[in-house]
Amino acid sequence: MISHKKIEKNSILMTVLVLIVVSIGGLVEIAPLFYLESTIEKVKGMRPYSPLELAGRDIYIREGCYNCHSQMVRPLRDEAERYGHYSLAAESMYDHPFQWGSKRTGPDLARVGGRYSDEWHVTHMKNPRDVVPESVMPGYPFLAITPLRVPDIQKNLEANRAVGVPYSDDMIENAARDLKMQVNPDADDIDAFMERYPKAQVRNFDGNPAMVSELDALIAYLQMLGTLVDFTSYDVDANKR
Ligand code: HEC
Repeated sequence: MISHKKIEKNSILMTVLVLIVVSIGGLVEIAPLFYLESTIEKVKGMRPYSPLELAGRDIYIREGCYNCHSQMVRPLRDEAERYGHYSLAAESMYDHPFQWGSKRTGPDLARVGGRYSDEWHVTHMKNPRDVVPESVMPGYPFLAITPLRVPDIQKNLEANRAVGVPYSDDMIENAARDLKMQVNPDADDIDAFMERYPKAQVRNFDGNPAMVSELDALIAYLQMLGTLVDFTSYDVDANKR
């Protein structure tokens, strides 16, 4: 038996023992999540992001939007009343890396899709104070005038597939076309696109049909957030086991 006194006087021994105790606690809490089926709920509607949404997501990450915005509605009443249904694990299962964030200088964005019009987003992204006078969010006026450059979107999808996102061969093969298709409602094979990405919103997001801009991609991403899972068919109790 090691006496308490001995442990308290020996910082190395203390550290080792603390580590052992903490890792047992960690293992007990974390390990089951990897094999319990209910860790990620079964939901209808989640699908891999369309190429344009994925490109928008990359801009979101590049610009560091996650420094001020979370994408996780917590299961607390005031949160659910403000933002909608609390976030499910399934909703971020295709996010690599996830965008839960850890700080809210601005509001949570997990369910911002459909909350505002595209025009609102265009104005807001150029200069937030034009629509929210007291806003401290920086403007991103360059997004609207920067053409979206994604040299090899196929590789992007393939990388996501390598970490478990179920992109099909069909999706990967058509990725470059799909990227442009989503801003062009008149494209003739739009049906095949919609089959690949159900609920995808197809339109010119930034109001400038002359070019596919970074703003097109970012707004396509924002307008999709929180709109995929069908909550009318989601049964909370069926997912508790
Ligand atoms: C310095 C912190 C900060 C950064 C960085 C930031 N935002 Fe914001 N954002 C805010 C604040 C504060 C608000 C609330 C006021 C407003 O609407 O402008 C906000 C509001 C928003 C809203 C409206 C949300 C709602 O429900 O009303 C959207 C959408 C948004 N931001 C998107 C973005 C995107 C996309 C980026 C990255 C390109 C970004 N923000 C970067 C602080 C930030």
